[in-house]
Amino acid sequence: MANEKICDGDYVLIYLDARRTYMIKMQAGQTFHTHKGYLKLDELIGKEYGEPIKSSLGIYFATLKPALTDYIMKSSRNTQIIYPKDAALIVMFSGIGPGSRVVESGTGTASLTTALAYYVGPKGKVYTYELRPEFQKNAAKNLQRSKLIDHVEMKSGDVTLGIEERDVDAVILDLAVPWLVVPHAYEALKPSGILVSFSPTIDQVVKTTEALRENGFVFIETIECLMRTMQVERGKTRPNTMMTGHTGYITHARKILKPPVQETPQVSPQENTVAQEEPLEQEENSEEMAEEETA
Ligand SMILES: C[S@@+](CC[C@H](N)C(=O)[O-])C[C@H]1O[C@@H](n2cnc3c(N)ncnc32)[C@H](O)[C@@H]1O
Repeated sequence: MANEKICDGDYVLIYLDARRTYMIKMQAGQTFHTHKGYLKLDELIGKEYGEPIKSSLGIYFATLKPALTDYIMKSSRNTQIIYPKDAALIVMFSGIGPGSRVVESGTGTASLTTALAYYVGPKGKVYTYELRPEFQKNAAKNLQRSKLIDHVEMKSGDVTLGIEERDVDAVILDLAVPWLVVPHAYEALKPSGILVSFSPTIDQVVKTTEALRENGFVFIETIECLMRTMQVERGKTRPNTMMTGHTGYITHARKILKPPVQETPQVSPQENTVAQEEPLEQEENSEEMAEEETA
């Protein structure tokens, strides 16, 4: 991310109002044109973030230091991206933090990669797999812009064929067929490691959940996050009329070590019948549970 003083080469968020914000790179000698006049970038270089800048038409713009959400929302896109509301929950459910090692796929525009790279910090690493080289190239540019590329290792290839990393803290999936990656994620994760998958459709969620159940994952949950923005004005404060109805579902789960395959005891059909007819143990168990509940 950028310094506190605006330097040549930094990105600055130029703000007129909530609908008119521009992420621009400071370049000495350059001008930036808006419908409210042009801005001389030389007047900004060396100033503190937050200082106003006057356009050639006398309109003041605010100069803001871009936050993580600005880098995500202003990324150069060639795929659908994960929006901040979902990225925030993905980060939270994945359990990652400074120093974590995370596998992600697909990279796409690298919006989610940007969020993951920010939270793992310089001592962590995001290994991000992408199938299409042209998307990877664009993603690299977005990560360079946010100055987070050093926290990321960009990997080319089909993640459904395997994951090279081992003992990672989390695996994060946002691609069409996450269920095909679940067995590889199991191999890559450390015990108790966390998998998070983002999918736009319920059909994908069902297939992914079934694959998780079959491949040594527990504590499986799917959620959807709906976000309403508010119009705030004295006497008229209420939710905005328009909202995004759906982005995707977030499924998260934890890896357990698979128990060793147990040999089935050889039971004769007669013994089996007796065992089924003995109610005593079951009753004792029910009492134990009742005691626990009332304790
Ligand atoms: C929806 S986009 C990911 C967007 C990304 N999460 C973001 O926030 O910018 C899905 C990406 O997965 C990639 N992809 C699809 N199948 C893949 C596979 N088997 N292996 C690696 N990448 C894959 C696609 O090329 C695409 O770039």
